[in-house]
Amino acid sequence: MKKDSQINLLSHSQAKVRLLSEYLKRYLNIISNDNHTKEIQVYDLFCGEGIYENGGEGSPLLILRQIKDMHFTNPANRRLIPPVNCHFNDLDSRKIEKVKAAVAAKSLHYPDFGSIGYSSTDYQCLLDQLVKSFANLRSQKQKAFVFIDPYQYRHISGSQIAALMASGCVEVLLWLPTQFMYRFAKNGTPEALYDFISELIPDFSDQGFDDVWSFIKKIKEGFHALLGESFFVDTFTIQKDPSTVFCLFFFTSHILGFQKMLEAKWDIDTEQGKGWHYQENQLSFLSHYKTNPLEADLVEFLRTKPRSNVEVYRFTINRGFLPKHTNEVLRNWQNTQRISIASPTGTKPRKSAFYIAYEYYRQNQVKTIFSLS
Ligand SMILES: C[S@@+](CC[C@H](N)C(=O)[O-])C[C@H]1O[C@@H](n2cnc3c(N)ncnc32)[C@H](O)[C@@H]1O
Repeated sequence: MKKDSQINLLSHSQAKVRLLSEYLKRYLNIISNDNHTKEIQVYDLFCGEGIYENGGEGSPLLILRQIKDMHFTNPANRRLIPPVNCHFNDLDSRKIEKVKAAVAAKSLHYPDFGSIGYSSTDYQCLLDQLVKSFANLRSQKQKAFVFIDPYQYRHISGSQIAALMASGCVEVLLWLPTQFMYRFAKNGTPEALYDFISELIPDFSDQGFDDVWSFIKKIKEGFHALLGESFFVDTFTIQKDPSTVFCLFFFTSHILGFQKMLEAKWDIDTEQGKGWHYQENQLSFLSHYKTNPLEADLVEFLRTKPRSNVEVYRFTINRGFLPKHTNEVLRNWQNTQRISIASPTGTKPRKSAFYIAYEYYRQNQVKTIFSLS
């Protein structure tokens, strides 16, 4: 018998596809305006059936909706939007037929948006083809986005993600049922899971992890170590009930893409009441598990030596926070004289002018130097 989650779009899955939508909206906007990219490739490798029995829309429809919205909200700039070619895959060919029917019934795709392709192939075969074709993305001025949403972890490995990302022109959003993985890890580990975990956490032992949060943290660190310093990795956790936590992993090599993902994540978190709260000198999330370490980390970062706005920007994004969060901390420190801020020319910068932003980072423009008082 099918599980309810396989028939109806449940609220945790809604949160997942919502994040996919919010991110894609931002991603498509930046790439369309970068004056460089000629084509965007979007792959949904486990796309499901598109529409659930309760009417909920799955990933393929939401992806197409974002592309359609981009065209309809920018009629004047439509001709500047590069083609966005979509590819939807699911092993189950009946699901692919359902997706095709829903796309037609809802008029979600027009040929001038780009091409649309469908396949019913095992993910593993498709992946090998993608890795080969992605090697040419840079020379063809193309970008790719890959959504990987399996029911089970056994399809996934860290080295596959690394191979997909290798060209530096690819972003990946991966959904993993971390709660089940953590439970298995605690109670004797199946081989496929052992292989997945031990590739990312070489010192993993059968003793398992303290809790699902430390498991997710270790997996994230493992992905980061495997991919290397020029890649960014972040997670978005969705708690279905007190004992069930799912996790989206996001991978990119592009710092602005990463910032956009963080913006999407923080928007959703804030709506759900788990977002940013800054009171006095204390930063905390409402949720116990998400105790906000930004202020403490910034102190550590600045303690060793003075840092420029360019360094503080990268540090902030790397830690999963946004420039506006760091600005709040810096404003508070400035008001309480806990920090001194100089410009490289020796002049005193305007109050609250911190220059923590991508535009300064991109041009390596040092405008401010921060040191703890
Ligand atoms: C979690 S569902 C995808 C849900 C979908 N992304 C959505 O938003 O509605 C996972 C899908 O993977 C498909 N699947 C299972 N094994 C697969 C494989 N080896 N290759 C490709 N697809 C597979 C299943 O048929 C199922 O539709």
